[in-house]
Amino acid sequence: MDKNCKNVYITTPIYYVNDVAHIGHAYTTIIADMLARYSRLSGSNTYFLTGTDEHGQKIAQSAVSRNKSPMEYATEISAKFKTLWDDFDITYDKFIRTTNEEHKTGVQKAFLKMYEKGDIYKGEYEGYYCVSCETFFTQKQLIDEQFCPDCGKTTSIVKEESYFFKLSSYEDKLLKWYEENEDCILPRAKKNEIINFVKGGLRDLSISRTSFDWGVKLPACLNEPKHVMYVWLDALMNYITALGYGSDEKNMHQWPASVHLVGKDILRFHAIYWPAFLMSLDMPLPKHIAAHGWWTRDGAKMSKSKGNVIDPKEVANAYGLDAFRYFLLREVPFGQDGDFSQKALIDRINSDLGNDLGNLLNRIIGMSGKYFDFYVSSKDVLKYHSKELEQVNDILENVEEYIYKMQINRFLEDIWKVLSIANKAIGDYTPWNLMKEDKQDEAMALVALITNIMAKVALLLHCVMPEKTSKIAQCIGMQINTQTYECILKQNELLKDIRITKVEALFPRIEKVLLEEAPNMIVNEEEKKQSTKKACVDDNEDEDDNLISIDKFFETSLKIGTIIEASEIPKSKKLLKLQVDLGEKNTRQILAGIKEFYSVEDLVGTQVCIVANLKPAKLMGMISEGMLLAARDENGLHLIRPEKNKTIGTNIS
Ligand code: MSP
Repeated sequence: MDKNCKNVYITTPIYYVNDVAHIGHAYTTIIADMLARYSRLSGSNTYFLTGTDEHGQKIAQSAVSRNKSPMEYATEISAKFKTLWDDFDITYDKFIRTTNEEHKTGVQKAFLKMYEKGDIYKGEYEGYYCVSCETFFTQKQLIDEQFCPDCGKTTSIVKEESYFFKLSSYEDKLLKWYEENEDCILPRAKKNEIINFVKGGLRDLSISRTSFDWGVKLPACLNEPKHVMYVWLDALMNYITALGYGSDEKNMHQWPASVHLVGKDILRFHAIYWPAFLMSLDMPLPKHIAAHGWWTRDGAKMSKSKGNVIDPKEVANAYGLDAFRYFLLREVPFGQDGDFSQKALIDRINSDLGNDLGNLLNRIIGMSGKYFDFYVSSKDVLKYHSKELEQVNDILENVEEYIYKMQINRFLEDIWKVLSIANKAIGDYTPWNLMKEDKQDEAMALVALITNIMAKVALLLHCVMPEKTSKIAQCIGMQINTQTYECILKQNELLKDIRITKVEALFPRIEKVLLEEAPNMIVNEEEKKQSTKKACVDDNEDEDDNLISIDKFFETSLKIGTIIEASEIPKSKKLLKLQVDLGEKNTRQILAGIKEFYSVEDLVGTQVCIVANLKPAKLMGMISEGMLLAARDENGLHLIRPEKNKTIGTNIS
């Protein structure tokens, strides 16, 4: 988003309807909702789009496996997404379905325009296709010549007549766009990845398929009844067809998008294909494409087969929607991967929300009630507390910048700095002593200072926790709207004399986990077996407990690394401390139980096989960030190493 922008247009990706929503979908949608709410409150004309992506081979196959027609199946799952967002009070302005007639008409018009411009030609596609990612690959890009480099699933060979988009001719224009628009892709590190990818050369993109029919047909005038559009072309166009492109164009003034929110896995489609399509259509490009990281659960990747997928509804029902929203936005810096655990969520609720925020409101209610019959006047705040107010206003003056830079966790951190100024002021000025010393004016000024800080905090936090901040507003007799936002936050006006209304505790303390833990957290072996079996059945996977699918194998990331440092750990008989180069920015520290079998000298400069996606563990107070592969039998322990030296970081498959 940009400062002082009159028209703001915020989008989520449109979700595939091959499965129901999980925490990843909720994360993107909640970030977008937070931005939309903020934008509206600050007075911008805001349009917020979400919806479902319903075409393509993946959906067609999922429907067949459930004995449903693709349309029937898509309608059912799409409705589930919509219901979830409604239950979550997501303030979208439009929920688009790519099976809508207006969308299909718009996509066909766009296709025709690009065709007439000479950017689309007919040819034959020969290569590999990953149905799960709905992505084309060359053989060179595959792992072991058959597996998808993105998700590890088996790809299929595709050889069919196809229309192509001249993506290669947009290489220079794209690079120029990245160069001239510093923040067009956020975070910056992700932008560099995209630039490097484009610099590596772009191939023309196959944009139609003939081997199935669940998709938007090509424009009738091309007379190609066998072709349907490539699902990513169809899907990306939703951002303009939702505004009426190619049909009723009444909302087109909202274009270009202020921000397209996406997960890191689909950034390439948004940061390369989408701007190239728009350039071909002679349309302005989005202002920002912001990519967030992925959520794991208790350190493990979520998957249906593990039975550890987080149902956002369950979490919100158990812990409260606002607390869940706060946790998602606060716990992880935007762009980085995050780990969901109930413990981390409970810590945030009890500490940040209960102690720092909820308790402060209780103190306002308590102090105003005890000393002033719930009456608060701001008349002496400046006289006694100009220093604290200045500190608060200084912090808040810049806090919105973080929203524009998509640094939402820092936005929240700064609000918490302000809360700590308020909490500290109570301890410093001890209003109970002021009352004993008959300094009512000073005590009132202190209560009013805290109440004014609470008013500012409630206005800023409203986009993150709409329900709880409305309670705060009700308590301190304030409306949350654009006008109060302007007066209290922008002009730093103080509250008028107010009467405090008692409200129940905002965030009661949580003493124990409220949801059943994921199967990988279950300690009882029998229970574990049962739950694994259930998950396998749910997934229609092989019921034999001893067999795993290839997908499961690919959940483990095995890599070649070189040991560049090794040292003994004085008090440990078994462990050696290693620094292993995996070709990443920093070396990995790995503590390996191999001291009885290898000396430090044996190891330095040699190659080893590493489990690279293990959750870091603490051993003897030190972090270990991976595991070496080794085999142990009656002849001792031996490391598993590549037969010949391989490039550092090479994947083992
Ligand atoms: N249909 C495409 C998007 C087309 S947009 C023109 C798609 N759909 S999806 O349903 O598979 O994914 C939607 C979003 O969910 C993506 O942004 C993806 O990054 C996000 N997530 C899916 N799993 C996730 C996590 N475990 N954690 C965080 N987000 C993840 O891709």
